[in-house]
Parts: sequence; structure tokens; C-alpha cells
Amino acid sequence: MAHLIELKDVYKIYPMGGEAVHALDGVSLTIDRGEFVAIVGQSGSGKSTAMNIIGCLDVPTSGTYRLGGVDVSTMDDDRQAEIRNKMLGFVFQQYNLIPKLTVLENVELPLLYAGISGQERRERAVQALDRVGLADKQKHLPNQLSGGQQQRVSIARALAGKPSVILADEPTGALDSRTGREVLEFLQKLNEEGDTVVLITHDNAIARKARRIVRLQDGRIIYDGDAAAPQAVVRAEEEQV
Ligand SMILES: Nc1ncnc2c1ncn2[C@@H]1O[C@H](COP(=O)(O)OP(=O)(O)OP(=O)(O)O)[C@@H](O)[C@H]1O
Ligand SMILES: [Mg+2]
Repeated sequence: MAHLIELKDVYKIYPMGGEAVHALDGVSLTIDRGEFVAIVGQSGSGKSTAMNIIGCLDVPTSGTYRLGGVDVSTMDDDRQAEIRNKMLGFVFQQYNLIPKLTVLENVELPLLYAGISGQERRERAVQALDRVGLADKQKHLPNQLSGGQQQRVSIARALAGKPSVILADEPTGALDSRTGREVLEFLQKLNEEGDTVVLITHDNAIARKARRIVRLQDGRIIYDGDAAAPQAVVRAEEEQV
């Protein structure tokens, strides 16, 4: 069977004055269903660029990207948006919850945009909130929840769309370390239950919670393997150079 995610010799080049910035400089990477992968690297290494391509928010300058066996690297915006809604669930550092809507309504909203009927919307949203342990908070407004709970609502919102991949970009960035760990354990649990999770982080301690680490440096992969291996984590002082 085809890989769920397959990047082949992907370049993302930004012209900057007379120079060209190689944000991604020949990245080849495959991710299969059921994996939990952390993409790490220092600031400017290309993590967000990789995330935008994997998330169908941007296209490579050259090279190919296949998602679920389909070449999305050359699609127009409308087709990309369609694939994005169908296959991807996003979790961001900022939860992006709508303050005036209840927790339940927030989780239902993307399903409304996806044209899913009222009853199914409700069922899926309730089920997703149940999965994140917030079934009893449906009627709350976001500001009546803790930061960790709000992040779990945003995870429920991603789950309700039944995505093939959960893409989490610095999901613990706005949380204290204990709450951040809880959210991470939560992503681990979803992965154990079968979900595919791709996590973007600059934090080695967070990355080690994944099963596999892909480390970027200057737009290239410098490590791809077991998250528990000693080589997976480069010490901070070595990273500075
Ligand atoms: N729109 C753009 N135009 C020009 N250069 C860009 C653009 N977007 C990103 N870059 C450059 O590409 C490189 C990779 O950027 P990217 O945002 O992917 O890094 P990152 O690993 O996400 O960093 P951070 O941890 O700070 O978020 C950087 O050198 C950046 O300056
Ligand atoms: Mg970034």
C-alpha cells in the first residue's frame, strides 16, 4: 500500500533580493498510517515550511508530495482545500477557538463548513469531546476552561473531521510544562488508539514523546529514526553552531 505521506526531493526556495533562501533543500520523507513522528530543528530550519507543505497549505518549488497516494504538489487552491478538509486535522499553538461559541459549537463548526448534516455534526462533536475527556464541558465557553482544556477542545475539533493525519504545530507552546506534558500524553493516547500524528516542535523533551524523530537543519534532514536513540537528540550547545 502507498505511504500515507510521501515527500520526494522537495525544495522550497524563496527568492530574496538577488539570493535564494532554500527553506527546504531536497527533503525526502515517508510517513505511514499509525505513526507518531516529531519534526524538530532549531529556528529557521524549515519546520513550518515542511508543515505547510504536509498540511496542503503551500506547494513545493520542486519535487513531489503525495498524500494518501495522491499527488497534491501541483493542485490548485480549491482542490488543496478539499483535500485539507478531508484528510487533515490541525492543532496549533493558539487554540483558535471562537470565544462566543460553546465548546460543542466550536467542535461542530468545521463540520458545518464541510456540509455535514446537523445530527451527524452533533454526534461526531460529542464523540470527539468524549475522546478528549471533556464531554461534561460541552456548554462551557472557551474562557471558562483552562489552557490545557482549551487545547484539548482544539484537538477534539481536529478529531471530529475524522482526519487521516493530525498535524500539531507547537501544540504545547502556550502551555506551562506540566499542562504541556498532559497534552502530549494525550496525543500519545490518540496514536495508541490508531491515529497518525505529526508533531512540529523545537523542544527535544517534547519530541522524545513521539516514536520517531525527523530532525531538520538548514532545510535538510540530518536525522530520521527512533526517538529513543541517543543520536535523536542533539545537545543544545551543539545545535547553536
Ligand atoms: N515567505 C518567506 N520568504 C522568504 N523566506 C522565508 C519565507 N518563509 C520562510 N522563509 C525562510 O525559510 C527558512 C525556514 O523557515 P521556517 O519558517 O520553515 O523555519 P522554522 O523551522 O519553522 O523556524 P521557527 O522555529 O522559528 O518557527 C528561514 O530561513 C526563513 O527565513
Ligand atoms: Mg516555525
